[in-house]
Amino acid sequence: MKTQKVENLNQWFTAYVRGFYTNGADEFIDTHIRLKEDHTDRVCREMRILTEALELNAQDANLAQAAARLHDVGRFEQLQKYRTYADPKSVDHGRLGREIIDRQAILDDIDPAERDILRTAVRWHGAKALPEDLDERTAFFCKLIRDADKLDVLALLIQNFERYYADPKTFPLEVEFPDAPRVSEHVVRAVMNRQLVDYARIQTLHDAQLVLLGWVFDINFLPALKRIAENRYLEQIAGLLPDLPEARQAADYVINYVKSKLQPENK
Ligand SMILES: [Fe+2]
Repeated sequence: MKTQKVENLNQWFTAYVRGFYTNGADEFIDTHIRLKEDHTDRVCREMRILTEALELNAQDANLAQAAARLHDVGRFEQLQKYRTYADPKSVDHGRLGREIIDRQAILDDIDPAERDILRTAVRWHGAKALPEDLDERTAFFCKLIRDADKLDVLALLIQNFERYYADPKTFPLEVEFPDAPRVSEHVVRAVMNRQLVDYARIQTLHDAQLVLLGWVFDINFLPALKRIAENRYLEQIAGLLPDLPEARQAADYVINYVKSKLQPENK
């Protein structure tokens, strides 16, 4: 993809998102639109770091940038229509994102193969797992956006947890799970077995933290794991866990997994 096209997409995106702000008429909408607009900017930055580390050529790096810019394009209409970002309560925002790309015809002037990659990457960026029948090149870009997205979501959730614990009473966002000083055995087991946990089986805030730790097993590229290590995301999450042997054990397991992945012989 040409650099000019990415720049056009960036401009289109800014104008598109601007249309969702109510300029103070609806504070809930404005705050939440801002959240996703800022998230998108940061995912673009994470993507730049990843594609530089992976030494992608300029055309592919541009394609990856376009995927980062568009990955959450469904969020804005989702929030406007349903006033929530919870997919189970509203709509699959990846599917909606792909619909918007088609409806707005923003990729009609690019190579059809690249258009399909972007539509697929947007569709599946947040799914629990990727479909197995993707061709290698499409899967590659899907994996890139999934990693870049996770890097920013990790940072964001750590920040939210810290704000919550600093003052639970004034924490402004919805807290989805009970703040009980325990972890569930099946969640600990899943992490130790490198398995994904069904969102519906999370019972406490600390379970949710363990699930976040387990995300590392779903990270596709070493430079993304390196970002996680550099930023000490896992240590920060581990610091939120209750002082229980099984919680410690799961955290240590995950931290050691990342360390072993980043040993020089694996590079
Ligand atoms: Fe998303």
